[in-house]
Amino acid sequence: VIYPVVLSGGTGSRLWPVSRAQMPKQLMPFMSERSLLQETVLRLGDADGIAPPLVISNADHRFMIAAQLQELGITPTAHVLEPVGRNTAAAAAVAAKIVGDLDATGILLLLPADHHITDAEGFRTAVKAGAVLAQSGHIVTFGITPRAPETGYGYIKRGDAIDGGAFAVAQFCEKPDLARAESFLAQGGYDWNSGIFMCRADVLATEMQTHCPEILAKSASAVAGSFKDLDFLRLDRPAFEACPSAPIDTAVMERTTKAVVLPLDIGWSDVGSWNALWELGDKDDSGNVISGDVLAVDTEETYIRGNGRLVTTLGVKDLVIVDTGDAVLIADKGRVQDIRSLVSELKDLG
Ligand code: GDD
Ligand code: MG
Repeated sequence: VIYPVVLSGGTGSRLWPVSRAQMPKQLMPFMSERSLLQETVLRLGDADGIAPPLVISNADHRFMIAAQLQELGITPTAHVLEPVGRNTAAAAAVAAKIVGDLDATGILLLLPADHHITDAEGFRTAVKAGAVLAQSGHIVTFGITPRAPETGYGYIKRGDAIDGGAFAVAQFCEKPDLARAESFLAQGGYDWNSGIFMCRADVLATEMQTHCPEILAKSASAVAGSFKDLDFLRLDRPAFEACPSAPIDTAVMERTTKAVVLPLDIGWSDVGSWNALWELGDKDDSGNVISGDVLAVDTEETYIRGNGRLVTTLGVKDLVIVDTGDAVLIADKGRVQDIRSLVSELKDLG
């Protein structure tokens, strides 16, 4: 059985000011009238052999997520609440423990809650292929053909071809700097890591035991000490707080020898930054992506998202302009990755 695990703990700070600590991007609609989290769950379809999703989120977002799942008529296998964020390795370890207790060789399908995929049918086909590889003990990551030297992604160097259209992972490099990303593209033979992983619960636990034993141990005790609160499962706070914080990409994927990459062409996009939304959006003749009440004159390649009041631009190029009523962001389109640091400066200001 495949257990989808929806990772919904991120804050999506690069999509500030729409994405906020109390209302992070995965709970917001960007590409349709459904939130990104709802789209993630719906994309799975209701095929046999796929359990209802396990959701792992920040405790603060529990009621919003519960309401969004209820709207879809979905009762999760479990909704796990993290008292604090400890990044994706800890969340994956929690999932491995919970699923492993239900079904030792159950297959985890780790799903970021904030991606856009145009070809849902292609995604479901890939999940079936991934399940076969995961069943035989591989840690499967889905690979995306890189479109630019983005520094916000993991890069995977393809090794030998193995069964089922997949390749061994010769090298996994999480978030390289620009020079390395450019050299990967120039060399060829690299995929972006989609951040969607499949593996057996027992395989992930074994790999974590080898590569990040502390994360595995603390996450397992956080599950052992967890308790039910309404429909939620609250992890034990002291154990989880003591868990080291690291992404699964560096804690496991850069180190394991069990990784394989299955290249995908399903219109995947990480709705990670305003630039990504500009790329995904419908452009006017000048390459602008515009929503809301906007008058853009002599404006090119710009993303403008209004919110009720009129936004006008004149003689500008390559900008991101986002108005949420209580805040306005104006950024160079090439600097959208740095919005993360802008937001932490705002937090420092209190
Ligand atoms: N439950 C939980 N707890 N979920 C978390 C936490 C946490 O502490 N931190 C992040 N997440 C969720 C996010 O909400 C998102 O859905 C997913 O895990 C991935 O985290 P991101 O923070 O968005 O990772 P990233 O985009 O920087 O990098 C990852 O995704 C890229 C593709 O989008 C990596 O896997 C990269 O290698 C990959 O290329
Ligand atoms: Mg992301």
